[in-house]
Amino acid sequence: MVSSAWLLTLLSFSSQAYGLQARGPTYEAHPDRAAAVKEAFDRAWAGYYQYAFPNDSLKPISKSFQNDRNGWGASAIDAISTAIVMEDAVVIGQIVDYIPTINFDKPSNSEDTISLFETTIRYLAGLLSAHDLLSNAPSGSYGINSTQLDAILDQAIHLADNLKVGFDTPSGVPINDLLFQPPRTTNSTTNGLATIGTLVLEWTRLSDKTGKSEYAELSQKAESYLLNPKPASGEPWPGLLGTNVDVSNGNFVDSSGGWNGGDDSYYEYLIKMYLYDTSRFAAYKDSWVEAADSSIKYLASHPSTRPDMTFLAAYDGRDQLSYRSGHLACFDGGNFILGGLTLDKPEYVQFGIELAYSCHETYTATVTGIGPEGFAWQDGNASNATSNPAAPAEQAEFYKEAGFWITSSYYILRPEVIESWYYAYRATGDSKYQDWAWTAFQNINATCSVGAGFSEITDVNAPKGGSFTDFQDSFWFAEVLKYLYMIQAEEAPWQVSATHDNQYVFNTEAHPMKVAGTPI
Ligand SMILES: *[C@@H]1O[C@H](CO)[C@@H](O)[C@H](O)[C@H]1NC(C)=O
Ligand SMILES: *[C@@H]1O[C@H](CO)[C@@H](O)[C@H](O)[C@H]1NC(C)=O
Ligand SMILES: *[C@@H]1O[C@H](CO)[C@@H](O)[C@H](O)[C@H]1NC(C)=O
Ligand SMILES: *[C@@H]1O[C@H](CO)[C@@H](O)[C@H](O)[C@H]1NC(C)=O
Ligand SMILES: *[C@@H]1O[C@H](CO)[C@@H](O)[C@H](O)[C@H]1NC(C)=O
Ligand SMILES: *[C@@H]1O[C@H](CO)[C@@H](O)[C@H](O)[C@H]1NC(C)=O
Repeated sequence: MVSSAWLLTLLSFSSQAYGLQARGPTYEAHPDRAAAVKEAFDRAWAGYYQYAFPNDSLKPISKSFQNDRNGWGASAIDAISTAIVMEDAVVIGQIVDYIPTINFDKPSNSEDTISLFETTIRYLAGLLSAHDLLSNAPSGSYGINSTQLDAILDQAIHLADNLKVGFDTPSGVPINDLLFQPPRTTNSTTNGLATIGTLVLEWTRLSDKTGKSEYAELSQKAESYLLNPKPASGEPWPGLLGTNVDVSNGNFVDSSGGWNGGDDSYYEYLIKMYLYDTSRFAAYKDSWVEAADSSIKYLASHPSTRPDMTFLAAYDGRDQLSYRSGHLACFDGGNFILGGLTLDKPEYVQFGIELAYSCHETYTATVTGIGPEGFAWQDGNASNATSNPAAPAEQAEFYKEAGFWITSSYYILRPEVIESWYYAYRATGDSKYQDWAWTAFQNINATCSVGAGFSEITDVNAPKGGSFTDFQDSFWFAEVLKYLYMIQAEEAPWQVSATHDNQYVFNTEAHPMKVAGTPI
């Protein structure tokens, strides 16, 4: 009898020899839908380029700008990897020409602090991703020469050299808020789980690209306190951590957390580091598995009126769950799906699909067909303690049907719900997810298109979305339009693979980074 291990070896040998892929889902592109998303990208870019560039963000109604990210052209740097994915040569050329002119020594307002986290995930990642994608594009693509490519990487190095002062604390856990001219830290005494734990992909990639190990070492030293949390109160369940860390000694100072904003992307990056390089980041994978298993066991919660839906509760220590979540946390489905694909664990994929479905229900329940910033529910099995309250009277009817009530009604052009559908589609090939994304696109396009681009709205459950805030955040370019496009687009090297041959891994701002290790 042929042992199955031997058979696997034979199969993998022959698939290498004959260039066959392991059998994955079948995908069907919708070029018409992809083109409509690209139209939205070009429209938003034209407005930004005319009225705001090279400032950070477009105010689409007043046709002016805001420097909310230190004035280095956040929307331009956040847009470049999407422009490359869309093969938008004109926009790529405009941004590549701009990059060498940025003065990363000087923020637009010297009083403003520079966020180590935001600057890493938007600017540093945007530059690294542009360099990875353009370096791997067919030679001569977009007429970009090696001098221009080098300038992109030089700017990434220059920026990181200014930011690295953040890690100069007694423990090596960075301070998030910095000042420049000269680079220095503020006097913050703590930093948060997400803002510490969402640097390591970008800073490791920079070291791997430049051969200078310092950046990887700084970010991995900081991460070491999260992988081995102290004291015990900082880890209420295996792998699930508190939120705030004392930068003087690396100790957690609280026991509250979950998958919501402030904690979210620490968990996201654990499995993404393993995807980036299995040989170096197995310990990160182990922490992700612990967190995933504990989340399924202790945090999964079904609304009393909709037992078909699943959200993840937040916690303050083991004894206090709170049944609230939001748009930001809806990346969780996609992250469970990616973990399941990476580790060959269909149960994680299945759980991720349940989360992605439940976030879809937050879109379909509202007047605009767009999900709210914040929501809550009553757990169907927990007792009716004060920590598991019923819906407020004015939303009781809504809750009966929807399975959640709205705690913050904004939509600020966030991506996470669509991001999870993208992973669900890549894992299953089920065209339902493409249809969900297309419907969401049409609703966002109909509600948020205004003036020279797109604006945040104040109320997803009011006709026309309530009112506009006259602001278009840079992640509209980096994330929303990219996931909306990719789910409808043809196969390409950056598409997420269900069959262990990912060439890229997406940072939390959806900038694709070339993986370092051998494919898994
Ligand atoms: C922002 O745009 C204005 C008007 O085009 C320009 O004068 C200014 O220099 C820009 N600011 C930055 C930081 O680029
Ligand atoms: C690279 O392209 C830039 C922009 O088109 C141009 O100014 C520069 O001279 C080129 N450099 C080389 C070495 O071809
Ligand atoms: C930090 O505290 C020191 C000592 O109190 C003070 O001199 C310094 O200005 C503070 N730095 C910042 C950035 O606030
Ligand atoms: C309550 O718990 C039971 C048993 O674990 C489970 O089957 C059911 O789905 C839960 N219902 C809700 C609404 O949470
Ligand atoms: C909680 O309150 C609801 C009414 O709001 C009631 O129907 C339900 O039986 C109560 N559950 C428990 C476990 O007390
Ligand atoms: C998106 O909105 C624009 C502006 O209102 C409109 O011209 C376009 O047809 C819309 N696209 C889709 C696919 O609905």
